[in-house]
Amino acid sequence: MTDHDRARLDYANLLASHVDGGLEAARLEGDLAVRFRAAWEEVQRRRASGDMGFLELPEATEAVAAVKDVADGFGQWFEDVVVLGIGGSGLGAIAVRDALLGPFWNERDDEARDHFPRLHVVDNPDPSTFGRLLDRLDPGRTLFNVVSKSGSTAETMAQYLVARAWVEEAVEADRVRGHFLFTTDPRAGALRSIAEAEGIPALSVPPNVGGRFSVLSAVGLLPAAVCGVDVDGLLAGARDMMSRCREPDLAGNPGALLATLLHAADTEAGRHVHVLMPYADRLRSFAFWFQQLWAESLGKARALDGGPAHTGPTPLASVGASDQHSLLQLFIEGPKDKVVLFVSVTDRGDDLTIPAGHPDMPSLAYLGGHTLGELLDTERRATAEALRREGRPNATILIPRVEAHALGELFMLFEMATVYAGALYGVDPLDQPGVELGKRLTYGLMGREGHEAPDIDDGDPRFIA
Ligand code: PA5
Repeated sequence: MTDHDRARLDYANLLASHVDGGLEAARLEGDLAVRFRAAWEEVQRRRASGDMGFLELPEATEAVAAVKDVADGFGQWFEDVVVLGIGGSGLGAIAVRDALLGPFWNERDDEARDHFPRLHVVDNPDPSTFGRLLDRLDPGRTLFNVVSKSGSTAETMAQYLVARAWVEEAVEADRVRGHFLFTTDPRAGALRSIAEAEGIPALSVPPNVGGRFSVLSAVGLLPAAVCGVDVDGLLAGARDMMSRCREPDLAGNPGALLATLLHAADTEAGRHVHVLMPYADRLRSFAFWFQQLWAESLGKARALDGGPAHTGPTPLASVGASDQHSLLQLFIEGPKDKVVLFVSVTDRGDDLTIPAGHPDMPSLAYLGGHTLGELLDTERRATAEALRREGRPNATILIPRVEAHALGELFMLFEMATVYAGALYGVDPLDQPGVELGKRLTYGLMGREGHEAPDIDDGDPRFIA
């Protein structure tokens, strides 16, 4: 594999040699290398204590075989597969679907889908979305993959109950369980108990793999495999990136560099907003996956040593060139609080040549003979340069194509960068105590047993007349 076949990070525009206020390159061999070494040791320690199960996923051959078994067998009996899962239990599947199945998968006919099912991922329990989806589906030909590691998340459980009643109304009682597949903890939680009691097939999320790190487990692999995605390629890409990100040497480790550069930009240069801006529609959902990973892992009130932390950069998902006409003005002239991370795709495969129409109109004529992919990539380069000239740091991740191997590399690159960044910030990147309170209050308000209805301070609203 040559350098051009793998994901590469070009960070020149983060350095003082290229951008005003950038980082002195020598520091990457000096204090930042020393600081990273300590972060690396912390990650090794947590890995050795068994906390970082996501690092085992690319080599979990038995679990992958179980996924393929279901996907290639019983998964193919259906026309529509509906994933019900939220946060880390939904965003990875959406990212894989949009990147690797490409646009309009669900609108294609059977032949154009190679007879694989349509794939819907419903994360939000918004009745207008879920209700309209059910209206379009045939219960007799639909499989619901209910994904919840805890098996108790209110949104997903509510959707499961709605889906279950909808199936029960349409098919014979002894066939209901055949329309469900659970992805959950191997032992604990309501979904596991229901699966065991009713013989509903269930795949496992390893207990030491957190939701937002679970895309390469059955959580993301089953929806991918059931639609014919090359999951071996995805996992091979993750393995390749993982071996590059294991090094204690900062300069040779892309995940370490990404974490170190973004952490330094945030904590030393006030660049608190980290924008991920792929120039590819297929990677738009990947940017949203990153947004959750970075936010939930690094936004913490407590440090590892128990003291206060209040750390965390704000991630922002964006897409080029669309957001050049929306957010870019802010990035270029607004507060100097951002780092923009582009993703560039070298080979778009199905590129379109722009015809040489209207040769007498200079505002159109120059486009003729170029391709749409060329235009997108030129815009990315021009935007990076414009940002640089205005003293706005940016970097670019280059991938050869949007295909399984590259996506696997991207997932692992950001997962590794996240755990290294957690160690640099001195926080636990694997927990999310901040979202628990809202969950508990919801349980109380919705009347869940064992949860008292709380007093909510929303009894005195102020409206404009
Ligand atoms: O990353 C996380 O841990 C969360 O976003 C969870 O994935 C999300 O809350 C859903 O949890 P569960 O899979 O238990 O339903």
